Parts: sequence; structure tokens; C-alpha cells
Amino acid sequence: MAAASEIHSLTAGASLTDEQLLASYAVADRAQPWLRANFVSSIDGAATHEGVSGGLATEADGRVFALLRRLADVIVVGAGTVRQEGYRNIALDEASAKWRTENGLAAQPPFAIVTASLRLEPKDLASYATRPFVITTERASAENRRRIEEVADVIVAGDALVDTVELKHVLAERGYPQVHSEGGPTLFATMIAQGVVDELCLTISPRLEGGSARRIVDAADATPQDMTLGHAFSAPDGSLLLRYVRA
Ligand SMILES: NC(=O)c1ccc[n+]([C@@H]2O[C@H](COP(=O)([O-])OP(=O)(O)OC[C@H]3O[C@@H](n4cnc5c(N)ncnc54)[C@H](OP(=O)(O)O)[C@@H]3O)[C@@H](O)[C@H]2O)c1
Repeated sequence: MAAASEIHSLTAGASLTDEQLLASYAVADRAQPWLRANFVSSIDGAATHEGVSGGLATEADGRVFALLRRLADVIVVGAGTVRQEGYRNIALDEASAKWRTENGLAAQPPFAIVTASLRLEPKDLASYATRPFVITTERASAENRRRIEEVADVIVAGDALVDTVELKHVLAERGYPQVHSEGGPTLFATMIAQGVVDELCLTISPRLEGGSARRIVDAADATPQDMTLGHAFSAPDGSLLLRYVRA
């Protein structure tokens, strides 16, 4: 057994193909509910550059981000990220759609947007490649709900806030056990607090951002959860692609 102080090079291995990358992110049993979160952060912990994550993304991060979407049954995202990052006209590329159908998955995974307010643009929701889910609460306004139901399947999971244990359960029951969450920090805080995070794929972008950008999680109270390193890859630009799974 290696000593805890041992250190190994991340850069020694050969360059990985898409198939090798997909294999390294595969789960043991796709039928078992599994929630994978994906984030990018600067070295000093910023989750955004000028208000969006895209400013931190590297080419390697973009490549893995696309491959992780490819592996998903459903892509979950908070409404703040949808509004801030302008999610619309979203579809996986042709290579991903082809790979998915060849591997027994729907060509396009649906998105599931988490919102208490239902403050979403119906025309944006209508532009997704597959009719999305909108996951909301019992307290959501009936009028907003009717507006959204024209373009999305609305799921109620929780009273004042969406309960992410219920979210994971309901999505699995509907045939979407492999959940890929693209954040953001508010939704991720609830997921950590409610113990539903099975995996975090974190890209460290080789930059010191400074300033007052938020972290990848935004919560008042700490709810620690130990994680095990699944793998660590590096890219020539100095980004690190880390996969942590539930300890
Ligand atoms: N670095 C990264 O990888 C990364 C990833 C994603 C996002 N981001 C950044 O994060 C920022 C957005 O942050 P954010 O905290 O606003 O993101 P968020 O978690 O995506 O959105 C927060 C909103 O989502 C809804 N929401 C979240 N959890 C909920 C729950 N349990 N129940 C009901 N609704 C819930 C609420 O929507 P309503 O207000 O509609 O009720 C809430 O206001 C953006 O700047 C984005 O670029 C960074």
C-alpha cells in the first residue's frame, strides 16, 4: 500500500481518446440512481469569471463537459444558471447523438430545470432539442405553472423548495437514473446538504481569478461529506480534470 505522502505525475500517461475518457467516467451500474455534479473553478476557488462559468472553461474542460452530457439520462440545472448563462437552443452535437443511439440511449437527453419561482421563458424552454422537465414546488403559482406546462413537463418535488432526494427518486422512477447536474452553486448547496451527491467532476482552470466571485457551492451551513479521488487528468494548458466519488 502506498504511503499517504507519495506523489505521482499526472502528465506521464498517453493522451486519452474520447472512448477512453467515456470509459473512465462510466458508472458500474447505469440502472442505479447516480447523481454526478460538474463544475469548473479557478485555482483560487472562483466559480465564475464576469458572472458566468464560461470564462473559466478550458478546451479540455469543454471536451469533458460534452462527454459527460453524452453519458447522462437527464441533465439537471438550477434556474439561476439557466437565466445567467442563457440556456436556449440546447442540443448535443451529432457525434454525441450518434454515440448515444449506438449505446441504447435517447439521442438527446432531456434537461430538468429546478425552480421555485417558475421564472423561465417559455420560448427558451421550447427551443431545447427535447421537451424539458421543470421541477418545482407545491407552492409554485398555478398561473405560472399553466404557462410553463405548454412547453415543459412540470414535476412537483417539495413544498417551499425542491427536495433533491425526491428529485433524484422521481427522475429514476421515470427512467432517468443517471443524473448529470450542471449546477449552479445554490442548487449544489441543497444537493450536498441533502446527501444526494454521488460524484463531483471538477475542472481546475489554471487561473487566479481574485475578486469576490462565488464558490461552486453557496450555503450558510457546512455539511461535510468525504469524497474519494476517482481519477485526475491534466491538460497541456495546466487544467486539472478531477473526478471525485462518494467515499
Ligand atoms: N463554475 C461552474 O461550473 C458553474 C456551474 C453552474 C453555474 N455557475 C454560475 O453560477 C451562477 C448562478 O448561480 P445560482 O446560485 O443562481 O445558480 P443555480 O443554483 O443554478 O440557480 C439558483 C436558482 O435555482 C433555483 N433553485 C436552486 N435550488 C433550488 C431548490 N432546492 N428548490 C427550488 N429552486 C431552486 C431557484 O430558482 P428560482 O429563483 O427560479 O426559484 C434559485 O434562485 C451563474 O453565474 C453561473 O454562471 C457556475
